[in-house]
Amino acid sequence: MEFDVIVIGAGAAGMMCAATAGGRGRRVLLIEHASIVGEKIRISGGGRCNFTNLYCSAANFLSQNPDFCRSALARYTPRDFVALVDRHRIAWHEKKLGQLFCDGPSQQIITMLKSECEASRVQWATRCVVQSIARRVSANTTTGGDAAPHFVVETGSGPFSAGSLVIATGGLSVPKIGATPFGYKVAEQFGLGVVPPRPALVPLSLDPELLQRLGDLAGVAVDAEVSCNGGRFRENILFTHRGLSGPAILQISSYWEGGDWIEIDLLPGVDAASLLATAEDRRALPATVLSDVLPRRLAQRWCEMNGLTQPLNALSPKKLDEIAAGLARWRVRPSGTLGYNKAEVTLGGVDTGALSSKTMAAVAVSGLYFIGEVVDVTGHLGGFNFQWAWASGHAAGNAV
Ligand code: FDA
Repeated sequence: MEFDVIVIGAGAAGMMCAATAGGRGRRVLLIEHASIVGEKIRISGGGRCNFTNLYCSAANFLSQNPDFCRSALARYTPRDFVALVDRHRIAWHEKKLGQLFCDGPSQQIITMLKSECEASRVQWATRCVVQSIARRVSANTTTGGDAAPHFVVETGSGPFSAGSLVIATGGLSVPKIGATPFGYKVAEQFGLGVVPPRPALVPLSLDPELLQRLGDLAGVAVDAEVSCNGGRFRENILFTHRGLSGPAILQISSYWEGGDWIEIDLLPGVDAASLLATAEDRRALPATVLSDVLPRRLAQRWCEMNGLTQPLNALSPKKLDEIAAGLARWRVRPSGTLGYNKAEVTLGGVDTGALSSKTMAAVAVSGLYFIGEVVDVTGHLGGFNFQWAWASGHAAGNAV
């Protein structure tokens, strides 16, 4: 069957792109290998979909080219998506830090995107496995030059062809709900570079020795500032049976590379030196004083690990300063991440150097587009990854 546009991957970016292109009168086919579309939207934001962030800017994204995302983000903003959500009468709220969530289930966002696609007469092919893609450029019999390119997509449901092919198959996180390396393989097939993918927004694991010392803190959360390789985030960290999690750790995991140390300020904004120096009961242990500003179990364990068993009156002012500095710069060396099963996103992906930042088209392969998470653009935690999916999908949808 012949279409103007074939979009492969009916997730956030693919559905946005298909609805936008269909709305321009393009005949669009949306191919999805799973039986259900938009599964990641459904499980996102704890089931409430953190669908955008009011403070979205290029600074919230990692990429080998940090400027690549600017153009698309400027042309489809969080306000644009909120207007769409409002048009569909979906109730939402700002949770914190500009993060917008549905009041009800995430399914509302999927239903909204599906109905936008239906209004744009997009055709669906779910449970449809793509077997191969070929690009043909036949000679133009009138001019003698090259005619427009033509993609032939062979699938288990038969062949489909179109002048534009959009790859929206996402990254590698959560394989059990349909993630595949399909998009990277298509990029390679057409000679485009792929920045090596790795799990991001993912809990970090600790080696058994450190886990033995910290493992019984599982469940303890603390407001902290975590930094690594130029990234710095202040939010909760959470001790778990396998290592560290919580928003600040998920954020820093996108900056962490194997073997790196992370630095944790356990008392951001607290002058721990003066707290210890001015505590009234000088016979108290440091752990007792620190329990006023840290979870008690954490204060005790941290002091044990640092050999702080003497009362305050036995410690010199210099030692108190050292303790404060140690709390502000607690260095931890994670042993790894919990991998794609637990990662929210994939860092890396199709090299932006091969794509137009305006249209998401492959510069050297006319008619071929890559959008969403499959591209080497990865957002911070907080609704930025969906905003990238909407914006890049919209950019391509207007170009195909
Ligand atoms: P997405 O993964 O959404 O869609 C890709 C689609 O392609 C899928 O339907 C998949 O089945 C299909 N596909 C894959 N291979 C295929 C093949 N070979 N053939 C056909 N189809 C194929 N972000 C955010 O901003 N706010 C949030 O609250 C959250 N929360 C969140 C929670 C969890 C648990 C996860 C795992 C992720 C998030 N995210 C998030 C990230 C967000 O879900 C993600 O960045 C976007 O869904 C990416 O959109 P894409 O459309 O690019 O890929």
